[in-house]
Order: sequence, then structure tokens, then C-alpha cells
Amino acid sequence: MNIQIINGPNLNLLGVREKSIYGDASFETYFAALKQRYPEHTLNYFQSNKEGELIDKLHDVGFTTDGVIINAGAYTHTSIAIADAISAITTPVIEVHISNVYKRETFRHKSMLAASCRGVIAGFGMDSYRLALENFINP
Ligand code: DQA
Repeated sequence: MNIQIINGPNLNLLGVREKSIYGDASFETYFAALKQRYPEHTLNYFQSNKEGELIDKLHDVGFTTDGVIINAGAYTHTSIAIADAISAITTPVIEVHISNVYKRETFRHKSMLAASCRGVIAGFGMDSYRLALENFINP
């Protein structure tokens, strides 16, 4: 399968940022291990801090790739535009979060994206991405 991972704002700072919440591994390190674990699948990774670039990426891959795994960071809680982009494409999308957003501030309890996604995985650390991948591989 061909799977696109999309990370939103501040997730370029994984391994540096709020380590007690997000852990001390960079996404690049995790992604390299994930690719090694699933050599029979093609995994692509894109990160941007800009809402429009996340939308452009969804449009770019959203009619050809087999699945999108998105962690939109804080845009999860605010972005109708990203929700619309997910609804506009034909590729199924799974929303993921590293932290358990429901244990955190109430403003993180609301997702603008979830209703447009196949499902949501939150709170399993970086493993949230692998669990989403497993769903695409064995739906
Ligand atoms: C996050 C949770 C969001 O609330 C936060 O803004 C992030 C990361 C997570 O992966 O746990 O940037 O999406």
C-alpha cells in the first residue's frame, strides 16, 4: 500500500518539544523505524507548520494514495478548512494524536476533523501512527 503521513504545526519539534507529553524521539527517527518494520509498503512523510500547505498536500495525494494518516496538531481543534479538504478527497484519512487529548485541556477535546475521518487514534505515543497504519493494512 501507499500511505501518506501528514504532520501539522510544531510536530517538527518532536523530541525537543514538551518531552513529558510527546516523548524524546524525533519523528524522523520514528519514521525510519516504521519504514523498516513495513518494507512491503510505501510510506511517505510530510510536515508543515502552515495550514494551506497541509491542505495542498491533502489535495495532492488524496485521489491516488491508499490512505492518509494525519496529525494536524492544534489545527485539529480549529480548522474547518482542513476538515473540508479531508471531505473533498477520496482517500480515507485517519486522525492521530500522540497524547491522549481527552486527558488534557478541554479545548483539545474537540476535533473539527474527526467527523470527516475514518476514525481517530489518540494517546498511544508515537505508536498511534503504527496503529493507524495497521488499520489501512488490515481494515
Ligand atoms: C497533538 C495534540 C494537539 O492538541 C496539539 O496541539 C499537538 C499535538 C498530539 O499529537 O497529541 O500539537 O496533536
